[in-house]
Amino acid sequence: MLILGIESSCDETAASVVKDHTQVLSNVISSQVEEHKLYGGVVPEIASRRHCENILPVVQKALADAAVTLNDLDAIAVTYAPGLIGALLVGVNFAKGLAIAAGKSLVPVHHISGHIAANYIAHPELKPPYLCLVVSGGHSHIVEVLSYTQFRVVGRTRDDAAGECFDKCARAMGFPYPGGVHIDQAAQNGDKTAFALPKPKVAGNEYDFSFSGLKTAVINLIHNSKQKSVDINYNDLAACVQNTISEIVTEHTMNAAIALGYDKIAVAGGVSANSGVRKAMADMCAKKGFSLYIPPLSLCGDNAAMIACAGSYNFESGIRAGAELNAYATMSLEENIPPNA
Ligand code: KG4
Ligand code: ZN
Repeated sequence: MLILGIESSCDETAASVVKDHTQVLSNVISSQVEEHKLYGGVVPEIASRRHCENILPVVQKALADAAVTLNDLDAIAVTYAPGLIGALLVGVNFAKGLAIAAGKSLVPVHHISGHIAANYIAHPELKPPYLCLVVSGGHSHIVEVLSYTQFRVVGRTRDDAAGECFDKCARAMGFPYPGGVHIDQAAQNGDKTAFALPKPKVAGNEYDFSFSGLKTAVINLIHNSKQKSVDINYNDLAACVQNTISEIVTEHTMNAAIALGYDKIAVAGGVSANSGVRKAMADMCAKKGFSLYIPPLSLCGDNAAMIACAGSYNFESGIRAGAELNAYATMSLEENIPPNA
């Protein structure tokens, strides 16, 4: 089975050809990050315009790198939710036109199901059911992966996503966007016990997250020290931020796994590249005797191989869309019932 995947939900225009669910024949990513960096975050209109310019060459390169033609494909999979609406619309309409012109099936993919599917590419032996922590710039979820296409969200953030917290703390420390990776680097030389940072608890659902209090505490700490002209060691502060976020996501995931009876745990999304999160999850899983699955760094961030992989499972289970397919800025993983499914 040959699937072309297309991803344009944020600031990466990406296309990939994947064979038989997990064999990545090509994986092309055109990142706009250098341009958005100038503004300290993603500017939606710029993102849409760059997707318009980049999508055709990116898809052409993905087909050429895989040495396949449109005719060879079984289906075209595309991210249709959630994300920046103007960005999503470029990918959805491009995929729609391509599918109609080439006479191929169009398969809608929820972006988070794509991040989860990155683990099948990296670990083809991983099979549902299992529990997955999804932590990215826009999402923080604990998900029961019931099958390749069915999900139950048991924990979610009430405010900021984990990646957003990393990025906003990084910005307060003067690191460029996206700051998560800079916190990771600075943390390597820092003391994670130097500052006491809050680990907020959320009433009502012990698996839910809240990261805005941690972000505010870091911003206040920096602000107060500037007012008193006291120097802060940013390596230490980065190590504390990373350690606090890593402990929060690990504790919540482990509590959910134990309560719900899972001994297979996966991690997905851009923040799964974080060395502190990877180590905390690995240590905790080793302690509890759980199996842990995390994608390599190359598949943690946004890419289209994960969309093609998720799309291939959707395709296999009969999920299709027609010319009426729309894009949605928000859509929960559970209500992800694509048109014509
Ligand atoms: O999954 P992703 O590429 O895009 C979304 O779907 O949101 O995730 C991007 C997020 C950003 O917040 C970025 O700072 C964060 O992942 N990130 C990291 C690291 N690498 C990427 N955060 C912490 N440590 C890292 N090494
Ligand atoms: Zn993403």
